[in-house]
Amino acid sequence: MTYQFSDRVPESDEDPVGNILKVAGSPDVISFAGGLPAPELFPVAELKRVTDEVYDESGRQALQYSTAIGYPQLREQIVKRMAHQGVKTTIDNIMISTGSQQSIDLTAKMFVNPGDTVIVEKPTYLCALDVFRSYGAHIVGVDMDENGMKIDQLEKAVAENPNTKFIYTIPNFQNPTGRTMSADRRERMIEIADNYDIMIVEDDPYGAIRFAGDDIEPIKFYDDHERVIYLSTFSKILAPGLRLGWIVAEKSLIKKFTLMKQSADVHSDNLTQHIVAKFMSEYDIDDHIDKIKQVYRKRERVMMNAIEAFFPKNVHYSHPEGGLFIWVEVPGDVDTKALFDTCIKHNVAFVPGEPFYPDAVTPGTFRLNYSNMSEDHIKTGIKRLGDAIKETISESVSSVSRN
Ligand SMILES: Cc1ncc(COP(=O)(O)O)c(C=O)c1O
Repeated sequence: MTYQFSDRVPESDEDPVGNILKVAGSPDVISFAGGLPAPELFPVAELKRVTDEVYDESGRQALQYSTAIGYPQLREQIVKRMAHQGVKTTIDNIMISTGSQQSIDLTAKMFVNPGDTVIVEKPTYLCALDVFRSYGAHIVGVDMDENGMKIDQLEKAVAENPNTKFIYTIPNFQNPTGRTMSADRRERMIEIADNYDIMIVEDDPYGAIRFAGDDIEPIKFYDDHERVIYLSTFSKILAPGLRLGWIVAEKSLIKKFTLMKQSADVHSDNLTQHIVAKFMSEYDIDDHIDKIKQVYRKRERVMMNAIEAFFPKNVHYSHPEGGLFIWVEVPGDVDTKALFDTCIKHNVAFVPGEPFYPDAVTPGTFRLNYSNMSEDHIKTGIKRLGDAIKETISESVSSVSRN
């Protein structure tokens, strides 16, 4: 049989990131490659308790089909969480999704025709790039610095691409760089979107996990014209296996999202929505998030100290104030693939920068995760990584001098 795939299906079956994670998963390798939360922090006993209560009190309702927009009690809880962040909203502005990944997919499905422009940070979340590509988007990357997307470059990109549908941004502790967009850039981004009448998709899975510095209001906070679609998720603040996220947007947009979601998966798991709503009504989720922050803060400090001790001094790296990732830039024309291979020989792994770039790749870049690793492993792994970087740099210098 010759399968006649649609244009959305990638031609190649290659899964470079999957292959990296497979190699990194070998038991001898200390892997900073995945982006997994620490499983020892999942509130298993509490979730078990409230699950029993849901079965006892409303088992039949929770196991029944439900509405695409989501369980009202859970949306009520999210209204309260958003208020904490300075965003006033109502349950009619919120739809529950099957994780932020689905929110990104539904957003692209709803707005992107082949050839439409989507503007993203460079680098950005690789699975969002996959989604935008699958809908035939023309993806334009805008460089970042320590304060997020470079706003002058953003304005130029918007001006040069009149068919821009939206700017996709991860303003807090970005995946993959760990960087956070400053408040003034958030305001400037809104101004640009207002001037050119385009939308902003604000993807915020990590914002609640701030362990240093001061909170910054979401871009949605500055949004007077209902042009920001705000996405978040329970994946990093509770557990990713629950597969629950949410979208905050203007009411008429939520109605459209609801229709799109109905045809995608009818609704997100109703039982899980009841369980999470119950958890949030019986426990203070902010207490739970505080525990996550404390552990991640310690792991990030241990990783940072080890980087300072073991990496060559000319290597640059981001200084996250929250989230899960540090971004590393090895100067010179270092082949990240060769560096990865050397690291595997040293039994340590990361995700090379390449898949995070929509277009030209900055060589020598890679992402490190610190949330999913003991402090001892972090110290040992970063020492190995420092040795591998030194080895790769000296090999590339000697091959340049030979040529
Ligand atoms: C920036 C970003 N957006 C969305 C997601 C997807 O999250 P979820 O588990 O809610 O689908 C991730 C997951 O790592 C992410 O890093």
